[in-house]
Amino acid sequence: MVEIASRLSMSVTIPRQLQYREFSLRWKAADEPVATEDDDCAEIESVGAKASWDPELYEAKHSFVWKLGQGVIDLLDPMPGERILDLGCGTGHLTDQIAQRGADVLGVDASPDMIGQARQNFPKLRFQLENAGEMKFENEFEGVFSNAALHWMTDAENVASAISRALRRNGRLVAELGGRRNIGRIEDAIESVLARFETVTMPKSRTYFPSIAEYSSVLEASGLEVRFARLFDRPTLLEGANGMEDWIRQFKWYYFEQLPSERRRKALDEVLDVLRPILWREDGWTADYRRLRIVAIKV
Ligand SMILES: C[S@@+](CC[C@H](N)C(=O)[O-])C[C@H]1O[C@@H](n2cnc3c(N)ncnc32)[C@H](O)[C@@H]1O
Repeated sequence: MVEIASRLSMSVTIPRQLQYREFSLRWKAADEPVATEDDDCAEIESVGAKASWDPELYEAKHSFVWKLGQGVIDLLDPMPGERILDLGCGTGHLTDQIAQRGADVLGVDASPDMIGQARQNFPKLRFQLENAGEMKFENEFEGVFSNAALHWMTDAENVASAISRALRRNGRLVAELGGRRNIGRIEDAIESVLARFETVTMPKSRTYFPSIAEYSSVLEASGLEVRFARLFDRPTLLEGANGMEDWIRQFKWYYFEQLPSERRRKALDEVLDVLRPILWREDGWTADYRRLRIVAIKV
């Protein structure tokens, strides 16, 4: 794949079979029963990254994340015996698929709960608790793979350096993450509505959705040469009539936590009113996902 990737330019379209829909997620799974105002997910202190992941719900409701991530594995094209690092491996399903292709894979993740679930799912595979930006691997891997995880790592420069350090010369990073303006309309709606509630201090975004140029610069500054990059829309149908409310409660609830609990419902309803004409269609709510798929080589 490296040879193929090296012949691709930034504007080349990826074959249809390599395209897929996926979600990145944090907090609770998208279609779990709706939380009450006082039912916010407890924060779990992950290694170096404050995150709250619910592996059971991830397994139960969001298997499509890794199922759709198979296209990125095709792009990685792991070979038997190759050493591959699966960065932000979550519950380990894609780690397992890399292993099934004969590669010697290590899954790492900053969430103890996700790593625990991965070990339970795949006891024969290797998983390690690691915060990406603080990894100490040196010249160890022919490939670093990452699906739906890098956009949670807001310390992108540190992460790129750690990836570069971990790779052997000519090794490749093959990844997909949320790209520029990912869920932009949803974020705009939340921010415009909450700005009308004078008690709100806008929280710092917990996600990083770079453009091709921005992310390429970050990677290049760490000695990773970008050979392929594609930013594309992936409108994603949310489950059920409450799909958008559920999604907001899981992924963006930290905005609403700035409000007194009795005002959150009202704010949420106003956000849904703003979004309905834009993202509600006959078949339900659609989230305006945009993904960035990237291949970079350690030079
Ligand atoms: C949406 S999940 C994706 C999991 C898996 N790659 C998949 O496709 O199913 C994102 C994962 O990134 C992990 N993550 C977030 N920030 C991290 C960091 N700084 N270092 C390592 N892992 C991190 C989370 O714990 C979570 O398991």
